[in-house]
Amino acid sequence: PKPNGDPTAMLMKSYACQRRTPLKHYNSFLTEALEILSQNAEYNDNEGRSVAFRRAASVLKALPRRVRSMQDLRCLPCLGDHSQRVIKEILEDGSSREVESTRQSEQYQAMKALTGIFGVGVRTADRWFREGLRSPDDLIRTGQQLNREQQAGVQYYDDLQKPVTKAEADVISDIVEKAVHAVLPGAEIQLMGGFRRGKEVGHDVDFLITHPEEGKEEGLMPKITNWLKEQGLLLYQKTTRNSYLEKMDGPARASSNMDRFERCFSIFKLQKSAVSCKSSSTASAEDVSTARESERPGEHQSEASGWRAVRVDLVVSPYSQFAFATLGWTGSKLFERELRRWAGQEKHMSLSSHALYDSKQNLYLRAKTEEEIFAYLGLEFIPPSERNA
Ligand code: CTP
Ligand code: MN
Ligand code: MN
Ligand code: MN
Repeated sequence: PKPNGDPTAMLMKSYACQRRTPLKHYNSFLTEALEILSQNAEYNDNEGRSVAFRRAASVLKALPRRVRSMQDLRCLPCLGDHSQRVIKEILEDGSSREVESTRQSEQYQAMKALTGIFGVGVRTADRWFREGLRSPDDLIRTGQQLNREQQAGVQYYDDLQKPVTKAEADVISDIVEKAVHAVLPGAEIQLMGGFRRGKEVGHDVDFLITHPEEGKEEGLMPKITNWLKEQGLLLYQKTTRNSYLEKMDGPARASSNMDRFERCFSIFKLQKSAVSCKSSSTASAEDVSTARESERPGEHQSEASGWRAVRVDLVVSPYSQFAFATLGWTGSKLFERELRRWAGQEKHMSLSSHALYDSKQNLYLRAKTEEEIFAYLGLEFIPPSERNA
């Protein structure tokens, strides 16, 4: 083949925010493997290695066809030696020994189970793992000290493990809209995260809320959660206040990926009948009658009841920051990370979910739409459905 034989390979840009990454792609047999290694590196507190594997996987997601030989990888960015070794082995043998042994390892499985609990991060999970604990059952059995969030996480573990469907997200959207409009007419609500990117399932449902009149959104969250509580729709909630002050923590803080909006991590109580009505699915009394008996006392058994627990994130943004919040809460996480890296390294700007700061001009750049932000950054606009990096 000619050196410039493959035009698509030549066009592959190195930052994920420069590329279109659809939800469905041709190389999951490779990306799933690389993402296991990425996840495992994260469990071992090796962020650099974790991001390297994730970037490699992301490049393969953007390819217009299935990788069939190492030749297909020529000229592609972000593929380090280690990733290439793994890919080569999968192409030749059908699987990678390193990936398979990681997948089977006690540490990987325990860390996955423990960090899968709402409220449990890598650090806590690792401490429990080193103490010999492997699962939520072990936490209950040994009477581990849990905070309120983790207690809810263990209580609703089985439900929260089950993917949230688009039909369920739509029902929750209706509920959130009703709650928000009951306490603040004229407020605007937008579905964010994976569902905005076109995913059919998610681990939670994310919403961004604002009001066109700046200031009207202040103190909104407690009103929303009180309304939801009165309706018996909330199983758990924790609200944190808006702590963003442009003057105090603009440029320096803007590079931190943790935003400072008023926000609420919650668990909704979702009636299954509401979902089957809406999606006219076949969920029925039969599912209920064949439900297993509870094996873990103190845990909600979803099969046996008419409702399930669903994780919901609510974020309130002032109108002036809405475009930045929208961009920051659409994801994917890698896409967001790459946007901030692009802004810093290529443009001397710092991007957050609140603002875009230009270090050369020493000023904040205002934006009403995501399109304007991409334009400031010198990037082609990528629609949400192609931000699945
Ligand atoms: N996010 C954030 N700060 C956090 C948590 C999340 O800014 N503390 C942003 C992420 O960058 C992402 C979006 O919120 O853009 C949604 O995050 P999350 O719900 O964790 O992921 P999804 O992409 O929605 O995927 P999933 O379907 O698993 O929920
Ligand atoms: Mn290596
Ligand atoms: Mn989400
Ligand atoms: Mn979320």
